[in-house]
Amino acid sequence: MRSQMKRTNSQGKATLEERFADEARFFKAWVENPKVTGAVSPSGRFLARMMARYVDPASSGPVIELGPGTGPVTVALLKRGVAPERLVLVEFDPYFCKLLARRFPRCKIVQGDAYNLSKTLDGLLEEPAAAVVSSLPLLTRPDADRTELLRQSFAMMQPQGRFIQFTYGMVSPIPRRLHANGAMPFEAEPSPPVWLNLPPARVWVYRPTGSPALIQKEEGALILKLKAQTRKMRGEIRETRDRMEEGFRETRDKVEEGLRETRDKVGVGIRERTQRARRQFELQRLRMSNDPALRPAIALLRKIGEHKKPPRD
Ligand SMILES: C[S@@+](CC[C@H](N)C(=O)[O-])C[C@H]1O[C@@H](n2cnc3c(N)ncnc32)[C@H](O)[C@@H]1O
Repeated sequence: MRSQMKRTNSQGKATLEERFADEARFFKAWVENPKVTGAVSPSGRFLARMMARYVDPASSGPVIELGPGTGPVTVALLKRGVAPERLVLVEFDPYFCKLLARRFPRCKIVQGDAYNLSKTLDGLLEEPAAAVVSSLPLLTRPDADRTELLRQSFAMMQPQGRFIQFTYGMVSPIPRRLHANGAMPFEAEPSPPVWLNLPPARVWVYRPTGSPALIQKEEGALILKLKAQTRKMRGEIRETRDRMEEGFRETRDKVEEGLRETRDKVGVGIRERTQRARRQFELQRLRMSNDPALRPAIALLRKIGEHKKPPRD
């Protein structure tokens, strides 16, 4: 009962006795598998606090912790005000998992491989995560594994989510040149060094820059721009069509008018020529009859013919 009380106070805070036990367990894990454990002792509280500082307790959604070990970062997250029910702890070592389950009974403990995060957490998250807080020994893994871990973490986070990682190294543990290549756009920001940790460490915070929210926003703006351009083009097409129709109507009216005029002129000419031909025919007929009584009529017809003679065209 006494040891039970020592292990499960409300924020999973360890007693001195327990801290020694943790050091011993951690050291044993490191001796057995140094590449997986990655450190000879649990992180100190200053480093754990620095990690937790980057998580907004007012955010919503799960906070995923990768490689919690004996739980110093978990404690810092709880102290920061993150509700235990929001914490999902992904740990490879079965022994640490049992210990975590005892120490943080309200947190979700998942025993599995954090480098295969999508599969390990498949169906376990009810909503996108607010943050992924990782103490994994990244430097023992190839670049491709680290980048893939970041990609999978971004995929299960909210657009404004952060991937938080500590390192004992001097540079970003996730290669930034991949970012430069545009393979996965993210921005990386280092914390000040935590000198009081042994060895001194630093925290890096990664944020997706091509986040779904940003993409959606850019897509929305692009759609609006395209719609405006389409509206403008439609207006221009309508105007051009109206202008062409008007031009066509004007040409058609002119052609019709011209045709009418020509038809009228031709009609008048034909009528006049027919009449003249008739008169000449009549004159000819009268001349041929040789009747003196008809001479005045012949003279008159000749006179009319002279008078009405149309100009030669
Ligand atoms: C450097 S320790 C950090 C432990 C603890 N968070 C701390 O700060 O003291 C790394 C932890 O990651 C765990 N780990 C290593 N590889 C892992 C993997 N592929 N999946 C899940 N946990 C892993 C180890 O078992 C170990 O507990």
